[in-house]
Amino acid sequence: MASADQRWPFGPHWSVGSACSNHLSDRESGGWTGPPPLGVSQVTTRPSTRLLIVGFGVRGRAWADVISAGSRGSVHAIVEPRPIASTPGVVTYTSLEAALEAGGVDGAIVATPPAAHCSGVNMCISAGVPVLCEKPLSDRVEEAAEMTVYAESVSVPLLVGMNFRYVAAVQELRRLVSDKSMGELLFGEFRYLRNRNGKDPRLNDYPLRMEHPMLLEQSIHHLDLIRYAYGRKVRAVSATSWNPTTSIYTGDSCVAAVLRLDGDVTVSYLGTWTSGSDRLEYSWRTDMARGLLVHSDPFGDLFRSMTDGALHVNSWNAEPGDQPLVPLHTPRCRPFFDDTRLLLDHFLDVVEFAHEPEPSARDHCQSLALLQACIDSCSAHAEVGVADVFPGAHGQPFGTSQPHAAV
Ligand SMILES: NC(=O)c1ccc[n+]([C@@H]2O[C@H](COP(=O)([O-])OP(=O)(O)OC[C@H]3O[C@@H](n4cnc5c(N)ncnc54)[C@H](O)[C@@H]3O)[C@@H](O)[C@H]2O)c1
Repeated sequence: MASADQRWPFGPHWSVGSACSNHLSDRESGGWTGPPPLGVSQVTTRPSTRLLIVGFGVRGRAWADVISAGSRGSVHAIVEPRPIASTPGVVTYTSLEAALEAGGVDGAIVATPPAAHCSGVNMCISAGVPVLCEKPLSDRVEEAAEMTVYAESVSVPLLVGMNFRYVAAVQELRRLVSDKSMGELLFGEFRYLRNRNGKDPRLNDYPLRMEHPMLLEQSIHHLDLIRYAYGRKVRAVSATSWNPTTSIYTGDSCVAAVLRLDGDVTVSYLGTWTSGSDRLEYSWRTDMARGLLVHSDPFGDLFRSMTDGALHVNSWNAEPGDQPLVPLHTPRCRPFFDDTRLLLDHFLDVVEFAHEPEPSARDHCQSLALLQACIDSCSAHAEVGVADVFPGAHGQPFGTSQPHAAV
């Protein structure tokens, strides 16, 4: 546990302006006890790093569960405009202004729908409170860049909740690509096919009305993973999106893209929220000069097969058991729990010991630039250069601050 002087200094700096206009409601309901549609399931309190959860829907509740399951943080307060059950020791507010004015928080987790991220994040930053914001930081890379520069200008940490980076198999994949023990990276294929029922009460429903629900809500994870694990800049993208007749989404729920990365590496991507099967089909294949890596469960193990380095004319009818895929025994995550727990531990390191955010908002802007390039390519029906949509796409300085290490 950090001593008080090791903690991130915070305090109200209300004169510092916010770039976005959608300010939060000013109603407050500290201690309000209403009906329990959004009840806190296992929130407990302890004397530790005090966290504020902004937005107590599906993800906010998941955060509360993770924080309360023996982490060194505690849920100090919650901001949620809808009625929620009260929990001893946790103050509830309907307005972020009121929560920040009350003070006493060491860090904030912003888990509102994306449209409210900018105002919520900027208010926390104005108050000097380090922030972990859920993805996407913004649905516009320019706005995310403004938020980034603002946070850096007042030296308040801002990181983005890319929890899939914390899956053990992803870490191992990144390590094996980087150390070249299997030779050079050749190409990748990322497939995520799913039938997502956005009307199910266990899921959020705002994506039903989004312009690009698949890209902004789901593919952002995958595009970020490709950048992260392969450690290369994505130079250009050709993408197309569509909305099948059975889709319940207003915007396109399916996307296909070809990404061109540095080093002549190509990655093909297919992601759907409308498909012909309720089975999730997840497959991330990475071909290296001396072998193959396969990740076929988002939270599960990584598999590898090695070649003997020779070309086999009859490889199409290889014997079963030839070049088998063997597990690398990376620990399996309990979905959305262990990965989130590792992300939380990192956020606490950022808050308590001023560790560099991973990923930082500046790094996330590069994933958002790639996302924007996909959107632009879908409209233009042409390949789009990522740097053409955002000048900071490849880690070049934007704003007044210097970039952190970027891939
Ligand atoms: N990383 C992940 O694995 C993961 C998983 C699910 C959701 N998410 C992200 O988490 C965020 C929230 O998603 P969700 O599924 O919890 O959505 P949700 O709709 O279930 O919950 C959002 C909550 O925020 C509240 N809210 C809205 N405006 C607010 C405001 N101005 N101030 C405070 N609260 C406000 C809503 O009333 C709602 O309860 C999104 O950015 C989403 O992409 C991430």
